[in-house]
Amino acid sequence: MSAKLKKSIRIGICGLGTVGGGTLALLRENKDEISRRLGADLDVVHVASRSLEASDAAGVARTGTDPFAVINDPNVDIVVETMGGFDPAFEVVKQALANGKHVVTANKALIAERGNELFAVAEMHNVALAYESSVAGGIPIIKALREGLAANRIEWLAGIINGTGNFILTEMAMRRCEFHQVLRQAQELGYAEADPTFDVEGIDAAHKLTIMASIAFGIPLQFSRTYTEGISQITPDDISYAKELGYRIKHLGIARRTPKGIELRVHPTLIPRKQLLANVNGVGNAILVRGNAVGSTLYSGPGAGVSATGSAVVADIMDIARQMLAGIKRPLIPALGYVEMHDNIEVLDIESIESEYYLRIPVIDKVGVMARISNVMLEHDISIDAVIQKEAVSASVPIVILTHLAEERQLNKALRAIEALPDVIGPINRIRVEPFNGGVGA
Ligand code: HSE
Repeated sequence: MSAKLKKSIRIGICGLGTVGGGTLALLRENKDEISRRLGADLDVVHVASRSLEASDAAGVARTGTDPFAVINDPNVDIVVETMGGFDPAFEVVKQALANGKHVVTANKALIAERGNELFAVAEMHNVALAYESSVAGGIPIIKALREGLAANRIEWLAGIINGTGNFILTEMAMRRCEFHQVLRQAQELGYAEADPTFDVEGIDAAHKLTIMASIAFGIPLQFSRTYTEGISQITPDDISYAKELGYRIKHLGIARRTPKGIELRVHPTLIPRKQLLANVNGVGNAILVRGNAVGSTLYSGPGAGVSATGSAVVADIMDIARQMLAGIKRPLIPALGYVEMHDNIEVLDIESIESEYYLRIPVIDKVGVMARISNVMLEHDISIDAVIQKEAVSASVPIVILTHLAEERQLNKALRAIEALPDVIGPINRIRVEPFNGGVGA
């Protein structure tokens, strides 16, 4: 097709920070290739940024600071929301959809916490709300789960879905340094936010897990039901003891379908060191998905970054552009991949899950301590798999135990009883263990 006959799909961008700026740059850099793939041009016609300077510097026909001007612009076909946060992002997206415009967003908090409402608005107005870039940056995991694996009943998925957290745990393991030292380094390198709570306390990962679980199992988005535990309590000693036992510690998001309900949990996890996920280092992300037909598949790559996230945003824009160019009047694929959701599957509370556990118990070094701890475990029907007891260098010494599978409620009762023993001189550090029986990479 000759270039001058090409149709134009007109894009408006709200927010020109890392992701919005990266999207604009990528649309320019790969303009020719994108245009060849689509048989049409993607033209950015209107941008809004908090900074008028950034907006003016974008070199776009219409610029400003007001995102509502973008969503009310009759020349804009597709709105890209890359502002982040809820206010005004929620209203911007909602009104854009109500205006009959397709929206592409990178906003994981918005989708995880308000997505159910926004998808309903999109459906009512026959427009798409696309969100590939909200999970795992440049890895096309939404498309893989929703389309590539659509024939499967997904059994579970587990992922390293926060780059900052993975960088910190990797550095702690390689250089044997404390959490707070590495966190400072991650901030200096620009991986972690100035307020890194969302990264290190697992909230960012919980947003991403919530979204993936909804697509995997066809359940409504349930961020408030996702159990979230961060990595700030992990010590270099835990990493060393885990290594001695044949494991690495990773911050995982796990979603699993069980006969009792769905498990949705983000927490530090011991993984056998030969597993592929245990070997994903630095700021990388990876997600392992188990489908009943395909078996296990692994997706890995950059989970953050300007061009990686821009790549996912632009792919969403291109999907919508194709639909528009084909004259299709409503999105072919439901936002979460299901026309009929499973509304009545319960998300389990954390005490109802079953797991194996790593326990680090600080005790006074005296005869019979191990026997007393073993007795409590036996009384609570918790079976011990392995034990490490180091020689005492002071009056106190840690006992490290790996358990077999146990219900968390029962384990908690045992831990309370062990902490009440006079020989136990501090809180027990408990980390869940995921052996990935039957997964790939073993
Ligand atoms: N802060 C996030 C991370 C960025 O470290 O993974 C991508 O969501």
